[in-house]
Amino acid sequence: MTLNEVRERFFAFYKEHGHAIIPSARLVPENDPTTLFTGSGMQPLVPYLLGAEHPEGRRLADSQKSFRAEDINEVGDNRHTTFFEMLGNWSLGDYFKEEQLPWVFEFLTDTEKGIGLDPSRLYVTVFAGDDATGIPADEESVAIWKKLFGEKGVDGGDPKYVRLGSEENGGKTGMQGGRIFSYDVKKNWWSRAGVPSKMPAGEPGGPDSEVFYDFGERDAAGNPRHDVRFGDHCHPNCDCGRFLEIGNSVFMEYKKSDDGTFEKLAQRNVDFGGGLERITAASIGDSDIFAIDIFRKMSEALPAGGDVRKVRIILDHLRGAIFLIGDGILPSNKGQGYMLRKLLRRAALFSDALKPEAGWLEMMVGTVCVYYKEQYPDLDVRRAEITRAVTDEFRKFGATVKDGLKEFEKRARGGAVTGTDAFDLYQSYGFPWELTQEIATERGIPVDKSEFESEFTKHRDLSRTASAGTFKGGLADASAETTRLHTTHHLLLKALQTVLGPQVKQRGSNITAERLRLDFSYDGGRMTDEQKAAVETIVNDAIKEDLPVTRSEMPREEAEKLGAEHEFGQKYPERVSVYSIGPKGATLADPKFAEAFSIEFCGGPHVTHTGEIGGTFRIAKEEAVSAGIRRVRGVIEK
Ligand code: ALA
Repeated sequence: MTLNEVRERFFAFYKEHGHAIIPSARLVPENDPTTLFTGSGMQPLVPYLLGAEHPEGRRLADSQKSFRAEDINEVGDNRHTTFFEMLGNWSLGDYFKEEQLPWVFEFLTDTEKGIGLDPSRLYVTVFAGDDATGIPADEESVAIWKKLFGEKGVDGGDPKYVRLGSEENGGKTGMQGGRIFSYDVKKNWWSRAGVPSKMPAGEPGGPDSEVFYDFGERDAAGNPRHDVRFGDHCHPNCDCGRFLEIGNSVFMEYKKSDDGTFEKLAQRNVDFGGGLERITAASIGDSDIFAIDIFRKMSEALPAGGDVRKVRIILDHLRGAIFLIGDGILPSNKGQGYMLRKLLRRAALFSDALKPEAGWLEMMVGTVCVYYKEQYPDLDVRRAEITRAVTDEFRKFGATVKDGLKEFEKRARGGAVTGTDAFDLYQSYGFPWELTQEIATERGIPVDKSEFESEFTKHRDLSRTASAGTFKGGLADASAETTRLHTTHHLLLKALQTVLGPQVKQRGSNITAERLRLDFSYDGGRMTDEQKAAVETIVNDAIKEDLPVTRSEMPREEAEKLGAEHEFGQKYPERVSVYSIGPKGATLADPKFAEAFSIEFCGGPHVTHTGEIGGTFRIAKEEAVSAGIRRVRGVIEK
């Protein structure tokens, strides 16, 4: 099966079970300053898991674009990618384990409605319970799985508890018969922040149950796949390459309280996430996810027979980069842009060694944009822009890499590269740290990482380059700030249209606790000081007027007729949520759209009155992003 087919089948399956198919959110979280990238399907849905009403109802399914920067060093093996799609189905306080697990099993094993995997190749894991929080073992899931396997003539058996780390001591892990394995919080508990002790107050989470596909004890060459370190102490979670995790049902029914204990959420949710690329790999019975159709098509642009690890890195990084650019990121030295630069520069470095034919890069970008056209139309719409961003970065790197390599060689002559050297390479030659490290490792030369880091910190603000979600204090405060900026963002779009004209359309957006950023189409060049001042005045007047903000739900067509703003190239569901600001006296019962200051397609959240923005809006920066697209950064000064 192809990647696109598996996604389609998943949507059809859950549609039949009453789910609304919702579009993917962007890779850059719009209202979540705690993390640089959307790393799972649940991230954009947190408000609904906590109880907010979703306009599409209580049963949803989607394929969420996800990016896990923290996995970049694993890329090159048979199973890891930075970018992936996560298939998801969601119960927002609707069904629970009794429906969810049979559906997962049916989708995976049914040849007509699902993808027809052999049930005797499936293994599952369940939550073993946790003394520290008092959350009990998940016995319901065990009973359901036993029954499901039994119906297919497979002996599920009693759960085999695997204590992680015991393998090294020769402890009894191994397969031990049966299909059901239980693990502690490290493997069978899910929240955005990880294990219960790491979760901030207010965060939802819960026990989960994963499904693993067994590719067999031996690989195609007949070599055992067992983890070489652990002899035959293999178990589904041991990462030896025999098993691949293909789905995870999170039973999200807990929330961490302020005092650190766990309480039940008002509603019991299901959050299922399954890696689309991995499920597709299982469907073709190949344990190498780079064997699936999209990666095969992409590799046609490369010469055959290149080093497998390098080829995988190029395929992963370029696909990831294309999706990031498609979602409005451009290479830079900070945050998401830095990650993008790193992907492109690593891809450039590794592709150099393969000596591909001229034009390969444009060809590969084209392959990706066309392949995903149905699901992500904006990739094809922005194809020229994406191609330009990728080839520009390759060119820039190509020019510096030769000098940089020479410099590296010079500095490595003494048998080691100091942290200061590594920093110079970064600063003067555009070598990301990882690249220096990569080249050094390849040549067996040590580099002083801690010295590099202290140099780096001295020169730059590291705080926002962290890739994983950092929940450092004040999530609640931060979200109040982003809510204020979010409403300001709507005011700003309207003000820009008023001052610059109706050709202004939103083309990208990003909000942190400190500032907002809005990309928009406009080919009139740099904004003048007068135009900026006029925009600021319109926004500040609207704040002073304390206009009411109302949220309504309606069919997409109706919202379009109202002229509600939405972003070009984005897919929107059949039923949408719309926020309107003003006029004075408007209420939810009578939103008075015709006289509203602004109307936008938007999921929220927003303040209830513009006065709550509580400060003066100022444009901090106005610049070009690409031809015909400009970017404004704005702040609220108290
Ligand atoms: N949110 C769950 C995960 O990412 C499904 O594994």
